[in-house]
Amino acid sequence: IDPSLDLFDEIEKLKREKNAVVLAHYYQEPDIQDIADYIGDSLGLSQEAAKTDADIIVFAGVHFMAETAKILSPYKKVLLPDVKAGCSLSDSCPPHLFAKFKENYPDHLVITYVNCTAELKALSDIVCTSSNAVQIVESLPKEQKIIFGPDRNLGAYVARKTGRDLVLWNGACMVHEIFSQQRIVKLKERHPEAKFIAHPECEEVILKMADYIGSTTGLLKYTMDHPAKEFIVATESGILHQMEKANPGKVFIPAPPNNLCACNDCPHMKRNTLEKLYLCMKNELPEVTVPMDIIERARVPIERMLEISA
Ligand code: 13P
Ligand code: SF4
Repeated sequence: IDPSLDLFDEIEKLKREKNAVVLAHYYQEPDIQDIADYIGDSLGLSQEAAKTDADIIVFAGVHFMAETAKILSPYKKVLLPDVKAGCSLSDSCPPHLFAKFKENYPDHLVITYVNCTAELKALSDIVCTSSNAVQIVESLPKEQKIIFGPDRNLGAYVARKTGRDLVLWNGACMVHEIFSQQRIVKLKERHPEAKFIAHPECEEVILKMADYIGSTTGLLKYTMDHPAKEFIVATESGILHQMEKANPGKVFIPAPPNNLCACNDCPHMKRNTLEKLYLCMKNELPEVTVPMDIIERARVPIERMLEISA
């Protein structure tokens, strides 16, 4: 890339020339969030992907998110700046093993968290995100037996909130499992006025300490609505950019991880850079595709989710 190029200008030009829309998740680096047409949590991003009239969807997020956009808009071109931007949670649930697991529970309905492959969605009855998982479980009759996958932490949280007995797949997100209970307790002692907020992908010991639990959009909204001046945030650090922008004067402290060398960055989300975003729009590559038979099967549980959370 010519170093004299202003990538912000170039990306804006490409958006206009190609009728492209840039959708970004809150965990993307700040530059990408600033150039995006829409920033959101997984539910907001899929609602946006379903309704856009752009010809090209540039998905600044990870692979399963771009796949979801493709499933909802199969005749649009969907680009992902780095095709290797995967997800440890999605990887923790290989579809062939899940299909076998599901055979053990023939009378159960399958709810899958959106953080999974298109193939896994095709094995599901309803998809959910962290912002509507409780609502989706509650929309089903009490006696309905349910398998919930792939995230055991979100699943256990939903089971506690709804009082339902869910069969859980044993998967987890590498970012949300690194928080240190001990170090958070000490940090809270040093900041007694701070509100502690956490994503439901965190472990139960962490969630037990939280003043508020929610999806990335939910967490951001809480910081805007709550009068507190300090917040300790247990999720990926990318969200702090919007929290700081939306709340001048408030202080946001990333919750400490258990390993002093670790940080709260998702290595998959952070594979995308502004340079890669520019190149992918210029070259219209890498493109994310999903086989038509999987699209047809995976679309049903995603649309069920969108209907329930409309
Ligand atoms: P939400 O933005 O839907 O809360 O999802 C968090 C996440 O881990 C996405 O990878
Ligand atoms: Fe996957 Fe966790 Fe990264 Fe989200 S933060 S993309 S769940 S590894």
